[in-house]
Amino acid sequence: MTNLLWGGRFDGKVDPLAHQLNQSLSVDQRMWREDVAGSVAWAGALGAAGVVTTEEADRLQTGLRQVQTEFEAGSFAFAPGDEDIHTAVERRLTEVIGPLGGKLHTGRSRNDQVATDFRLWCRSAIDGITGFTRQLQTALVLQAEAHVSTLLPGYTHVQRAQPITFGHWCLAHFWALERDLDRWHATQTRLNVMPLGSAALAGTAYPIDRSALAGALGFARASENSLDAISDRDFAAEFLFDAALTGTHLSRLAEALILYSSSEFGFVTMADAYSTGSSIMPQKKNPDMLELARGKAGTLLGALTGLLSTLKGLPSAYDKDLQEDKGGVFAAFDVLATMLPVVAGCVATLTVNIDRMRAALDPMLLATELADYLVRKGVPFREAHHVVGAAVRLVENGRAAGTPGLQKLSDLTLEHLRDLHAAFEADVVTVWDFDAAVARRTASGGTSPDNVRAQIAAARQILDAAAREDKR
Ligand code: ARG
Repeated sequence: MTNLLWGGRFDGKVDPLAHQLNQSLSVDQRMWREDVAGSVAWAGALGAAGVVTTEEADRLQTGLRQVQTEFEAGSFAFAPGDEDIHTAVERRLTEVIGPLGGKLHTGRSRNDQVATDFRLWCRSAIDGITGFTRQLQTALVLQAEAHVSTLLPGYTHVQRAQPITFGHWCLAHFWALERDLDRWHATQTRLNVMPLGSAALAGTAYPIDRSALAGALGFARASENSLDAISDRDFAAEFLFDAALTGTHLSRLAEALILYSSSEFGFVTMADAYSTGSSIMPQKKNPDMLELARGKAGTLLGALTGLLSTLKGLPSAYDKDLQEDKGGVFAAFDVLATMLPVVAGCVATLTVNIDRMRAALDPMLLATELADYLVRKGVPFREAHHVVGAAVRLVENGRAAGTPGLQKLSDLTLEHLRDLHAAFEADVVTVWDFDAAVARRTASGGTSPDNVRAQIAAARQILDAAAREDKR
């Protein structure tokens, strides 16, 4: 550990535990690809600026490509003194091409280097997350297609509210994920600004063409202010917010499916492939994957608050606290990279128990329809709501007393109803039709099968366009 990158002014040895605390290689080695790419581009920029000769720039780039090959082959050997990925790559480059390797870091600092690497890493990570999210969206659309007109109770306050279609329910989760993707892509666009050339804090003293360098690395432009550029971790915080909200959406979907797969609901059955058993109760089949989706949403939220807490007290430019920025982002990516495909698998392999869903439809769910019936007969809705409330009370009293013929809202005879309001007529029986109630919700955004078909068409268009984009 005598050859530390910054060792010139030091004569004592670093305490081994202090080195252990200081190093970030264990976390940031997964940015090797970005670190090599950033260095290849930097070597090119040094050559173009005449800081090194064209021949030297070529040799630097060839050496870096060999280092890359070693990483790809899994043969890259880290040395005990490698403090972080930047140190490791430069150390190995110098072993490969000799003292010329020492020219690579001219005009650059690890401060602008790490900020650049991290942005590059997040940029491609978002492409990965997009693909995983598409998998889950596809699974939801497939279920929606299979259940355009499968009815179940819709719930508010976890109380049965009105009948809806299961297709509509599936697509509700599709649209939440679509908003997530919109957010991820906005984050990706915003982060695509290059810090490289900001050096330690004050900017570089060499005539580097930063616009050309940005172009070489696929950035939209170079950053405006070196102080800001090396300390800006907004993109990491946004990444973690997007992850936390995606996690929250997965958690809410999971929670609903956990409830629906319980014996009490029995609306869906989870495939064995996504269930686990109990070590003591042989009958148990547990929705662990969904519980983990719910649980890990908390971990994702923790990563976001952790990073914001790290950032909020920092004075200008680089402080070592910033080294804490990567662990949470990498972990968040890893969570989503497993969670999204697993939840997609859960949804794709779900058995939908159509009969159990239908059996849970109680005519009470048609109370709004009964009020709307009166509205069609000219009764103001507020009055109709009141009348139907009295009808509901009648049935609830009948249920409490066990009165035969007064157990369901649809048990009420025309006489019962006419006692409550004179506008009721014989055609009131048409109200007791769940499918008709659902089919009436045709205004855009409603649960009718026709509307669900239109939503599916829109969703398919989005997925097809995304697949075409991927192929390009
Ligand atoms: N490993 C460091 C990080 O991840 C790289 C930057 C080090 N800069 C410094 N001035 N010590 O933040």
